[in-house]
Amino acid sequence: MAAEPLTIQGAAGAYPVVIKPGALADALPAFVAERGFARVAVITNTTLAPLYGEALTAGLPGGFLVTVPDGEQYKNLDTLQNMYAQLLAGGADRSTLIVALGGGVIGDMAGFAAATFMRGVPFVQAPTSLLAMVDSSIGGKVGVDLSQGKNLAGAFKDPLAVFADTSTSNTLPDVEFRCGLAEIIKAGLIADPPLLAHLLEHGPQPIEEIITRAVMVKKQVVEQDRLEKGVRAYLNLGHTFGHALEQASGYAWKHGEAVAVGMVAAVRLSARRELCGPDTATAVECAITDLGLPVRFSDLDPAALWDAMQHDKKWQNGLARFILLEDIGQPVIVSDVRRDEVIPILEGLRK
Ligand SMILES: NC(=O)c1ccc[n+]([C@@H]2O[C@H](COP(=O)([O-])OP(=O)(O)OC[C@H]3O[C@@H](n4cnc5c(N)ncnc54)[C@H](O)[C@@H]3O)[C@@H](O)[C@H]2O)c1
Ligand SMILES: [Zn+2]
Repeated sequence: MAAEPLTIQGAAGAYPVVIKPGALADALPAFVAERGFARVAVITNTTLAPLYGEALTAGLPGGFLVTVPDGEQYKNLDTLQNMYAQLLAGGADRSTLIVALGGGVIGDMAGFAAATFMRGVPFVQAPTSLLAMVDSSIGGKVGVDLSQGKNLAGAFKDPLAVFADTSTSNTLPDVEFRCGLAEIIKAGLIADPPLLAHLLEHGPQPIEEIITRAVMVKKQVVEQDRLEKGVRAYLNLGHTFGHALEQASGYAWKHGEAVAVGMVAAVRLSARRELCGPDTATAVECAITDLGLPVRFSDLDPAALWDAMQHDKKWQNGLARFILLEDIGQPVIVSDVRRDEVIPILEGLRK
């Protein structure tokens, strides 16, 4: 693995991504001290505050903890208001640094607070879930859900730095680890076939290297297309189907697991369209199964899933943008996918 620091080119320059065990205890406090921040708000949730938040806050100059309830259902404007109130009560001003300590829910929401509190304050991402380390903490998209749908209010706000303390994965629930793994498999499928091969041969070890490789894929894609006009859509492989599963199940399906099934649907559609061979579709499906992720769904009607897909905000002018594969590592954007080709794919994936 390359020894030089990993950086992401953002809107206002490059920011470093530090991926190592113990980053919360050493690299993050060192960064805060070096930058001379006098007041630091650590925003986290009620699960992570006792695990990591309290210790981190105690070691930061002028540190104070902002704690909100845990769960996607709290990723909303009410919780944002609660964050602003706690920031004000803690004496935050325009020079206060926000640390977003948690999974993607906290990263997105604390990042949105940082983009908007007093018209914007500096922030760093301290992702603690595998998904947040490889995906949500990178690329500058922040926001909250509205009652009408996920991530409907947001902004682009780059962090000053990302500190992924890989030792936090020791307390991460297994299902959350698998969900992060789904996004790592996605990274392999869109741009790093050897990463996928490594996962199949050795499992997700060494974790720092696996995370770094997945971050590199996201880096390449977002640096080419920061504002999501083109190739950034590759990151949506499996997501058009996956979001439909999440939505049609009333969010009983977890995101990463839904994306796993979605990637199988995407590769089967790719084979049906003869973009890739049937052997590629089989290989992808086997890989996802071997890595412990689901490849089938039950209890949901393919027609209802198709309808749910129409609500995806990534659809433009009524046209779906599906990400399909010409091969492992070769994604293509396809925008003329029809109902009559999607329904049989979904029928084939129903248990
Ligand atoms: N901004 C982006 O580009 C982007 C990309 C992908 C996903 N997202 C967003 O990310 C969110 C999903 O993120 P997520 O999967 O991390 O979910 P999450 O933030 O809800 O975290 C999952 C669960 O794991 C817990 N947890 C996290 N780290 C832990 C640890 N080290 N030990 C114990 N428990 C821990 C959390 O408290 C939570 O209960 C969604 O809201 C999604 O929209 C954003
Ligand atoms: Zn995703």
